[in-house]
Amino acid sequence: MKTPVTVLGLGAMGTALARAFVAAGHPTTVWNRTPGRSPELEAVRATTAAGAIAAGPLVVVCLLVDDTVRSTLDGLDLTGKTIVNLTNSTPDQARGTAERLTSAGAQYVDGGIMAVPAMIGGPAAFIFYSGAADAFDTHRADLSVLARPEYVGADPGLAALYDIALLSAMYGMFGGAQHALALAASAKVPAGPFTERFLAPWLTAMLTSIPRIARDLDNGPAETAGSNLSMQAAAYENLVTTATAQGIDPLLLTPMGELLDRAVAAGHGSEDLAALVGLLRAG
Ligand SMILES: NC(=O)c1ccc[n+]([C@@H]2O[C@H](COP(=O)([O-])OP(=O)(O)OC[C@H]3O[C@@H](n4cnc5c(N)ncnc54)[C@H](OP(=O)(O)O)[C@@H]3O)[C@@H](O)[C@H]2O)c1
Repeated sequence: MKTPVTVLGLGAMGTALARAFVAAGHPTTVWNRTPGRSPELEAVRATTAAGAIAAGPLVVVCLLVDDTVRSTLDGLDLTGKTIVNLTNSTPDQARGTAERLTSAGAQYVDGGIMAVPAMIGGPAAFIFYSGAADAFDTHRADLSVLARPEYVGADPGLAALYDIALLSAMYGMFGGAQHALALAASAKVPAGPFTERFLAPWLTAMLTSIPRIARDLDNGPAETAGSNLSMQAAAYENLVTTATAQGIDPLLLTPMGELLDRAVAAGHGSEDLAALVGLLRAG
């Protein structure tokens, strides 16, 4: 028989996780603060979190924030349970949860979901895990029905660090795209064709330069790829000036301009973008 699984939280993501377990044939027990969510789900419904946890050895938690995890789990006896907490958390929150839940008898694995609900169970989804290695190994196959599992280390805060790093990069990209769309709209350029023909292909092409930045960080700066920071800082002024002239708030642009200026002032004008990472770490 497949491992019985408990899912706490039936929001958009918790429902997708529970659905994947049900589809893979795991006896699945669910609990949600507000009863009646996701009525189509063919899972056993518990009326309390404690009742749901009692149903099996593996408990997947997917609630809104860390405080919600605290108010739901603190004070419960978790002896013999593996708690896999997929609630978005900071590394310090994950370490704190690990300490409290381990004291309550659990083996603790923290996780960061790199997917939106519709991607769960599909080929592009992956989930970072960190924490109790034995517990993770025991349940690796069970967790694989959700997404490709990526175990990144015994420190329970590591999965959150990887997760937050990727989300930070994603929001940088979304912020840039939103600014570009606002700028296009200021000249009455329709968003759809502009995005499909130009914006998305441009971002896709630029993504290929990120491994080069990483190589420069790991191995020391290589020869410039032809876009030194002095040139970039000079051109960047035009981005801010154009935004303002078109009535677009440059809020999303100015931090990068400030960083480029700092890099040039610190003598990195002839280097490439990898030099900015060092300035962020020093700052
Ligand atoms: N959706 C995504 O694209 C996505 C992607 C990656 C990671 N995540 C992470 O997955 C987690 C869940 O996201 P979601 O999309 O499922 O959010 P959601 O649809 O807003 O659902 C929130 C869940 O948290 C529960 N909750 C909120 N406050 C609570 C409280 N005080 N006590 C008990 N339960 C409480 C809600 O229960 P009620 O139904 O009773 O309100 C619901 O089950 C978040 O940490 C999120 O960052 C989401």
